[in-house]
Amino acid sequence: MEPVNVAIIYYSATGSVHALARAIAEGAGKAGAAVRLRKVRETAPPEAINANPAWAQHIQDSAGVAEATLGDLGWADAVLLGTPTRFGNPASQLRAFLETTGPLWSQGKLAGKVCSVFTASNTLHGGQESTILALSNTFYHWGGVMVPPGYTDPVQFKTGNPYGTSHVAGQGAPSEETLQSARHQARRVVDVAAALKAGRAAV
Ligand SMILES: Cc1cc2nc3c(=O)[nH]c(=O)nc-3n(C[C@H](O)[C@H](O)[C@H](O)COP(=O)(O)O)c2cc1C
Repeated sequence: MEPVNVAIIYYSATGSVHALARAIAEGAGKAGAAVRLRKVRETAPPEAINANPAWAQHIQDSAGVAEATLGDLGWADAVLLGTPTRFGNPASQLRAFLETTGPLWSQGKLAGKVCSVFTASNTLHGGQESTILALSNTFYHWGGVMVPPGYTDPVQFKTGNPYGTSHVAGQGAPSEETLQSARHQARRVVDVAAALKAGRAAV
């Protein structure tokens, strides 16, 4: 059977969500998927970016990551979206990309994709779950098949977020446990997407 196509589409200002996205890409690749790791277009003005050295640096560091297109979404069997928390909500840069998906949606081309979300916030109770749930609203409108990590692996009892991999950026770089959780989430998404793809091919 053809491999599962996984699109990992994310926004990251200062690199935390990018680090999670890379671990998700690694997990999906190891699970046998064809992977596209894509950032969304930056929409913030240069004066805002340049006022934060970590933001400006990350833009340079991630220059080699391709920007997400509607073609990536059309190609994907599974879509993992990553965003930092912005006042308990997804970043506007990711929303801006999602708001260009109307043409695909209206043709029914987003229906049936396996969907999952990951995030980062600066503080422990800073809105990770509300961000994941808010972003997930879009998947309901697409008719997506929601696949959260739940507590389906021992690492989930350590990292503790069944809604999606989450990182507290205020505590430094993602820990090995958080990266394991990201890889686990990706594996689970690939496993479900592979079962669906095989089932659909058999009909
Ligand atoms: C406008 C704005 C709003 C934010 N709101 C929150 C928030 O509600 N809770 C929180 O813990 N962190 C908040 N943060 C911090 C970011 O979530 C944090 O810097 C981000 O997760 C780091 O991810 P990144 O390195 O991938 O950009 C906010 C940051 C900005 C710029």
